[in-house]
Amino acid sequence: MSLLAVQNLSVAYGDLFAVRDVSFAVEQGTVFVLLGANGAGKTSILRTISGLLRPRSGEVTGEGKSLVGLSPHEVARSGISHVPEGRRVFPNLTVEDNLTVSYIAERANMPAADALAAVYALFPRLAERRAQAGGTLSGGEQQMVAIGRAMMNFPKLLMLDEPSLGLSPVMAELVFERLAEIRKGGTTILLVEQNATCLEMATQGVILANGSVALSGDAHSLQDSEFVRRAYLGV
Ligand SMILES: Nc1ncnc2c1ncn2[C@@H]1O[C@H](COP(=O)(O)OP(=O)(O)OP(=O)(O)O)[C@@H](O)[C@H]1O
Ligand SMILES: [Mg+2]
Repeated sequence: MSLLAVQNLSVAYGDLFAVRDVSFAVEQGTVFVLLGANGAGKTSILRTISGLLRPRSGEVTGEGKSLVGLSPHEVARSGISHVPEGRRVFPNLTVEDNLTVSYIAERANMPAADALAAVYALFPRLAERRAQAGGTLSGGEQQMVAIGRAMMNFPKLLMLDEPSLGLSPVMAELVFERLAEIRKGGTTILLVEQNATCLEMATQGVILANGSVALSGDAHSLQDSEFVRRAYLGV
């Protein structure tokens, strides 16, 4: 049974269909990439999985159980954490409060202090800055907070919406290194990106174009595809 399955999903805003008949499955232990240009429907798909949007049609299941109709909190409790587009760090809360605010005791299955220690081990820079206000952090540090906040609940599935956007190449690499570490720890990753270089760390993926699946398969075959070479690598 797939950790997450999206079947014939369509999402619309009024008359405008942002996602049309999209299907894919994410298996335990993998890094699955949703790759697509601006407006392809990537964020709409993640927000639907998280319970922030209702699908127009289709099904979303987590370990075989339907997630459609659950609140965002219920989806999080089921073991799916979402690092949103734009990070959404609370500017007036400290790093530590930003991390603690999403902690769900039943989900983390350990005291908040222990969950914090695990996040600080992953991102030592956040430990140094635990008392600093979120709004004064650099973009890279804010991305660490956004990921750390999701990791406070030890999700089975970590979903990230363009985590490298706006980061320097060095900082983006650091973030991807941390994701590799998170995966080694047993967390499955669903990564949304526009940049095809993320296929290097992926196992499977889907390429979205105008809300539909243009291509799907293992990461190597996507990397080698004419579609990716033309559209994303410019070769
Ligand atoms: N709240 C909304 N109301 C109306 N249309 C929306 C809304 N949110 C998104 N859309 C439209 O849905 C389509 C898909 O948007 P979405 O944000 O899912 O794309 P995306 O792949 O995440 O793009 P980006 O890479 O720019 O973040 C776009 O045409 C967008 O204008
Ligand atoms: Mg988006």
